[in-house]
Amino acid sequence: MTQAGTFEQLWSEIAGIGRDPTTGGYRRFAWTEADLSMREWFSGQCAARGLDLIEDRMGNQWAWWGDPDRSTTGGIATGSHLDSVPDGGAFDGPLGVVSGLLAIDRLRSNGYAPRRPIAVVNFVDEEGARFGVSCAGSRVITGALSADRARALRDADGVTMAEAMRAAGRQPDQLGPDPDALARVGAFVELHVEQGRDLIDRGRAVGVGSRLWAHGRWRIEIPGEANHAGTTRLSDRRDAVIECARAVIVTRAAAEAYGSLATIGKISIQPGGVNAIASSATAWLDARADDEPALRATVAQIEEEVGSSGAVMTEESRTPQTPFDDVLVSRLAGLLDGAPVMSTGAGHDAGILANAGVLAAMIFVRNPTGVSHSPAERAEPEDCLAGVAALATVLADLAGAEQ
Ligand code: GLV
Ligand code: MN
Ligand code: MN
Repeated sequence: MTQAGTFEQLWSEIAGIGRDPTTGGYRRFAWTEADLSMREWFSGQCAARGLDLIEDRMGNQWAWWGDPDRSTTGGIATGSHLDSVPDGGAFDGPLGVVSGLLAIDRLRSNGYAPRRPIAVVNFVDEEGARFGVSCAGSRVITGALSADRARALRDADGVTMAEAMRAAGRQPDQLGPDPDALARVGAFVELHVEQGRDLIDRGRAVGVGSRLWAHGRWRIEIPGEANHAGTTRLSDRRDAVIECARAVIVTRAAAEAYGSLATIGKISIQPGGVNAIASSATAWLDARADDEPALRATVAQIEEEVGSSGAVMTEESRTPQTPFDDVLVSRLAGLLDGAPVMSTGAGHDAGILANAGVLAAMIFVRNPTGVSHSPAERAEPEDCLAGVAALATVLADLAGAEQ
């Protein structure tokens, strides 16, 4: 089969998994049935290719071509994640995993034999859509998220990560830093659909990631007082929803003031009755900036303003500005025909690994809509194949050829 045919086939195998037929978006949340189906699909594809699947202490799936434990310098890993945000697009995550599998096919069909082993990884729970902390899979194995905190994280139904993992047949007591898994990785190159419009503007199919912006998530608890919607005078109300609306406006103003990005995309109102004034509200803030001072100033301004009405803001996760290795980035751009080098405000497991000292970089594939975290996210088949070819070139260069 041609690479285009294999790409189409793999894509169609996962197209229906976790897809909401009404919105067309994906709901593949960590340790749910959809996520487990994606994991099973991945292990089947790895088995079909004769790759050796090793799960680390968090359940991230590493499929190795060659024995990483026999390499003193570690192997070259690629891959991404198979979970999604609520109503996510098809490409964010899966494009990197599918491209990794296809890059291996391509290298093999060219008769290439790697000197260093090569892996494709599926990171668990990258989006943090269920338990609130992004990149939980890579954070736990690098120690950036403690096992105790991870196990205790709760989803919207109050189910802890430990309970969800147990229900999925796993042993949450095994969670923890996994230096052995990390030692196998000499370098990590994550391919990802672009989540913006840079490559459209530049007229290029493929780019190289130079750094991730500083970013984080905060929970804002807003107090109110429950009362009757039909009998309580406006002047007597302590309405949590009014303060929540103010938090949204304040967030936008702070982002504008500091040249950052700040978003409230999730709100929960208690008790949620049409005819009751809200007793409390919870809003989740996502804030990002290319540099740390802008992020700090944005968050401080929001915290000060919402704090004045009694709201309490708690950090749920935070990732510093993360530059990828300069030499590796230039090497990739050179290998890829002078591909444009771009920073991004999106978070990725590649960033978590880079912060843990792993040599890491990223390849982006053009997205003709420029839209992501939405069913409108796209990548054209020719660009996906250009991404596979780029990834194969990079893997071969980094892994070297057997003499
Ligand atoms: C991950 O996609 C993030 O940047 O939120
Ligand atoms: Mn994403
Ligand atoms: Mn992603």
